[in-house]
Amino acid sequence: MKDSNFLKAHNAKHLWHPMAHPAEMQAKPPAIITGGEGCVIKDINGAQLIDAVGGLWNVNLGYSCEPVKQAITDQLNDLPYYSIFRGTTNDKIIELSEVLRDFFAPEGMVRSFFTSGGSDSVEIALRLARQYHKLRGEPGRTKYLSLKKGYHGTHTGGASVNGNANFRTQYEPLMPGCFHIPAPYTYRNPFNETDPKALAEHCLAALEDEIVFQGETTIAAFIMEPILGAGGVIPPHESFMPGVREICDRHGILLIADEVITAYGRTGAWSGSRLWGVTPDMMCTAKAITNGYFPFGAVMLNWKVAEIFERDTTGAGAIGSGYTYSGHPVGAAAALACIAETKRLNVTKNAAARGTQIFKGLKNLAVKHEIIGDVRGGYGLMSALELTSDRKTKAKPIKATVDDIYQRVYENGVMIRVSGPNIILSPPLVISEAEVNTVIAALDTALTAVSQ
Ligand SMILES: Cc1ncc(COP(=O)(O)O)c(C=O)c1O
Repeated sequence: MKDSNFLKAHNAKHLWHPMAHPAEMQAKPPAIITGGEGCVIKDINGAQLIDAVGGLWNVNLGYSCEPVKQAITDQLNDLPYYSIFRGTTNDKIIELSEVLRDFFAPEGMVRSFFTSGGSDSVEIALRLARQYHKLRGEPGRTKYLSLKKGYHGTHTGGASVNGNANFRTQYEPLMPGCFHIPAPYTYRNPFNETDPKALAEHCLAALEDEIVFQGETTIAAFIMEPILGAGGVIPPHESFMPGVREICDRHGILLIADEVITAYGRTGAWSGSRLWGVTPDMMCTAKAITNGYFPFGAVMLNWKVAEIFERDTTGAGAIGSGYTYSGHPVGAAAALACIAETKRLNVTKNAAARGTQIFKGLKNLAVKHEIIGDVRGGYGLMSALELTSDRKTKAKPIKATVDDIYQRVYENGVMIRVSGPNIILSPPLVISEAEVNTVIAALDTALTAVSQ
């Protein structure tokens, strides 16, 4: 490895960072992370930080997951790559498809389609939804509905259903035929409604209204995260996703659950759909499927969808989508080991317990710190603080203050993620009680310092 002076001198000079301004990165270079063990990462200066971000919602089992590391090493020796495009397959992907079918049996999933990550999974699901309707003889069903504040990756299809202007405006015009419904976000919503159940009803009514307005026979699918993640952790009322399912069924619209964050245990249930008792038509998964150690994803399909393709005799059911790395044997081996370890550790239990602990800790911080406008979470290890410079007007905080909080938390040994006014916490699902206490204490210290 080059020495640390070299790395610091070249940091952010010859690469552009995703979701960042290149000039800002050059002016204030990002932290250089060089090691990870358990739930702790290490930076180039030797600082140790509890990773309350969990990589990027994906390192669910922490940085020392030996079975996944070993599976990757073994697979690199056995077969480092082969394509699964028509005509060939590999042993690990066959095994994984069976494991995933069983894992997602409660959601009614029977088939998988493999991808290289979350954005790819979303893109595939959107495409298959249109193809499904064409095969069924309703080719006019081409539109998509989704939630404002939703995040569905950054491919053009995904960005088009994305509900946050930051990921859209500079890339417009996006795909036509995509329409957005208000999110069940109690802190800010056009109905001025703070009761989660009543708000869910308003949002469902808005969905119904949009369907009637567009004409149900023009709509292919509704895509949603069971708990909105990147948009600032927005858990809907428990009635919301079942309500969406009912409306979609009534109008012949497919329901795509974007479970890129929520699948594999993060919510304290094995998937977000299972948490809400919903069986979607497709599920987009990625991230924690390999514990983040290999870029990989899987779109899961139920029989209602799969049957239409498999029974097609015209040839139009052939799938004209896929990636060089679809079904990568190293990713498949990593996923097999990761799912086995995820089940062995029964991580949902710790995710639920530690999630409750964090949520309680954050609520206590809100009693103490005026800058906290809203606390969201309560379902596993997805939680957020929304900061405000004025609780009454809910004005956004000054960016310098949020940056200052991030820096102070870092100096207190914890890595957090800031996104606009939000501090997002999504640590590994194996985080300990003591580590959670350290995370809360570091936030407390930083929030106290900035309010002085
Ligand atoms: C719900 C959701 N969908 C899709 C994506 C995109 O995944 P990727 O960044 O792996 O392309 C993300 C990433 O955070 C996500 O949270």
